[in-house]
Amino acid sequence: MKKLRLILQIAKKGAIGEKAKITLRELAKELEVSPQTILRWFDELEKEGYVARTVEGKKTCIELTDKALSYLEELYDELSNVLYQGVIIGEVISGLGEGAYYVRQYAPLIKEYLGFNPYPGTLNIKIIFPRTIFDALCNVKPILIPGFVKNGRTFGDVRAYRVKINGIEGAIVVPSRTIHPPKIAEIIAPVYLREELNLKDGSRIKLKVIR
Ligand code: CDP
Repeated sequence: MKKLRLILQIAKKGAIGEKAKITLRELAKELEVSPQTILRWFDELEKEGYVARTVEGKKTCIELTDKALSYLEELYDELSNVLYQGVIIGEVISGLGEGAYYVRQYAPLIKEYLGFNPYPGTLNIKIIFPRTIFDALCNVKPILIPGFVKNGRTFGDVRAYRVKINGIEGAIVVPSRTIHPPKIAEIIAPVYLREELNLKDGSRIKLKVIR
């Protein structure tokens, strides 16, 4: 873990694809250890094949090896795999009271594309994890509900992502021309979720994205 911090720190200093000049003293200060410790970590990293090093006077020139770069990339994949398994954690909040109107307009299309008759309204969820719904949904293909015109009014395309909320099927709906901050997810479902799951403003819920 400590050596990982050192690898990250020298990567920040530009040691990818070329040698970066560093001083032990500076790195020691940044990582809050002694210069001797940095030196020892460098010896170990060099022996393990993660860094290539040359010394020019007081300056050390360091470059991350291909092995170090692959290691970082694998770690990055692993982190995103464990973090973004399609779980969203959030807190129930109240909206502006417009959800019911819109869900009624889209109801026949929701039935056609998602297969259920939606309860008229959207349950608004303030996202706690991940940082935005897009982090959880970036690898998920949305179901595109096409827009339409009704009584001279235009209703835009909506992207829907199937989710389960405590075993109940539903979907996160995102208007294609969204004005919503990605910190809020709007959920439609065939049932009145507040009653079904005994939810109040502030209740914490977990959504599982269905891929
Ligand atoms: O926008 P706002 O939260 O005021 O309400 P709405 O979208 O018109 O929905 C009416 C109410 O039903 C809200 O309290 C929603 O949180 C709730 N709701 C629910 O519990 N289950 C659903 N499937 C849809 C909405």
